[in-house]
Amino acid sequence: MLDKFKNMTIGICNDHAGVDYKKKLVKMLEGKGIEVVNFGTDTKASVDYPDYAHALARAVEAGEVDLGIALCGTGNGMAITLNKHQGIRAGLAWSKPVGELVKAHNNANVLVLPARFISYREASVIVRAWLETTFEGGRHQARIDKIPL
Ligand code: RB5
Repeated sequence: MLDKFKNMTIGICNDHAGVDYKKKLVKMLEGKGIEVVNFGTDTKASVDYPDYAHALARAVEAGEVDLGIALCGTGNGMAITLNKHQGIRAGLAWSKPVGELVKAHNNANVLVLPARFISYREASVIVRAWLETTFEGGRHQARIDKIPL
């Protein structure tokens, strides 16, 4: 599982609400041989999620990382900020099926997780589901093509 991602680099960012899950996810992904670049805070001191979301978004847009994962309390602050960037499709996922669909239908290049509303186990399952799912293209690509302003 996740073997096909061994040459991939994933950027991850978080605010104070996502520190614990971020650290565990980094360990999980590195354990699978995936390179992870940390754009998040590493302490529980209160911070502003846009500072971290913008840093991750810029790295994804520049191709410095292949995909991104973002965590905050609800996921909404990260998603709202990330989606200001033209090159970002950030999708919020709170269950395994939504994690699959956000790749299959939306081709999300950043997965956003609501750290205060899911367990770590759920977060880990969602990340793996999102990574392992393939974008379906076709009518979904046509819809994605209509997103940019
Ligand atoms: C931080 O308390 C919280 O507002 C933040 O993590 C996030 O949920 C914002 O959308």
